[in-house]
Amino acid sequence: MNNKDFYLFFPKKLESGSGKIKLLKNKIGDKKVFILASESAYLNNKEIFDEIINEKCYLYFVCKGEPTVDSVDAAAAVARNFLPELIIGFGGGSAMDTAKAVAALCTNEGSILNYLELPQYNKKLNYAPLKWYAVPTTSGTGSESTKNAVISGEKFKKSIRDDRLIADYIILDPDLMTSTPLENTVISGVDCICQLTESYLSVNSNFITDILSLEGLKLAKNLNKIIKYPENINLRNDMALAATFSGITLANAGLCAVHGIANLFSEEFKIIHGVACGVLLPHVLMYSEKDNEKKYCNIYKALGGKGKYKRYLLSEYILKYWAELKFPNKLDISTDRKTLSALVEKAYLLQKNNPVKLTKENINDIICKIVDVRN
Ligand SMILES: [Fe+2]
Repeated sequence: MNNKDFYLFFPKKLESGSGKIKLLKNKIGDKKVFILASESAYLNNKEIFDEIINEKCYLYFVCKGEPTVDSVDAAAAVARNFLPELIIGFGGGSAMDTAKAVAALCTNEGSILNYLELPQYNKKLNYAPLKWYAVPTTSGTGSESTKNAVISGEKFKKSIRDDRLIADYIILDPDLMTSTPLENTVISGVDCICQLTESYLSVNSNFITDILSLEGLKLAKNLNKIIKYPENINLRNDMALAATFSGITLANAGLCAVHGIANLFSEEFKIIHGVACGVLLPHVLMYSEKDNEKKYCNIYKALGGKGKYKRYLLSEYILKYWAELKFPNKLDISTDRKTLSALVEKAYLLQKNNPVKLTKENINDIICKIVDVRN
């Protein structure tokens, strides 16, 4: 146990288990509710969902893909006009992030751009966001239990962040997750494993987040079994909990160089977040191992690794695990030497919380392993 001072931040209330979605009906009651749902999540669960909502609810479908400044502002304009008492996010990470951002814009004026962590903006929220409930239908981003929403612009991907953006209520019902397409299940599950691993290795981790990270990894290790048995409620339940734990650990301990550099690839080359993180993970881990063998061994065991741990075994194990999931081992990027140098310079600044300070040479080697570099 480390004895560093720490700060802990948890979601307010969490209901976990099969059938818990039915509790939402009473929670909604006769309130005016603005629901930000992913259309596919709604259609996959239409029967359950239609029994819960009533004529006082406004059902708004969020845009496909990650939320943008324009998509959030458009949703907020409709919500402001509707004057809701409560916001609900229903779907994957994009629905959660849009719900959080709209909850903030229902009580604060202007565009979401004003509140993003960009040097020229970064305005603080004057008023507490509207209450919001999270009902995730995918497992991975952990956005249901974080205090930030990630929003993309033309050439950036930044967060609005505020302690008051934490969900007032989370329903984790695995029944809603069995219909998640397998590709999404894998990509978001890999993102979850990255988040748990990075928050465990973060220089800002503490003994509570360490427990949650390792327990989360033990739950997430069966991602490969979900691919074989996608309708298994117990496996889906485990993955849902792992994802929510990853949101809690990342909100408290932060993430490391994997997410930092992955965001660069998402911003510059529009690579899907979970894909960029997963491809980077084994390589960044290899260059960050040094004196962290004990923690690396714990991650290896939590993910189901057997036998005596030796240096670099975790990276090798993850590469094999990804291959079993048919997860890519390279990014679909071809770049020239000049662009590579520019990427290395930018990535070097994105290793906040990493247990080891990566050199520019390390980062160059990592990037060369995962993209095609033309001469
Ligand atoms: Fe992530």
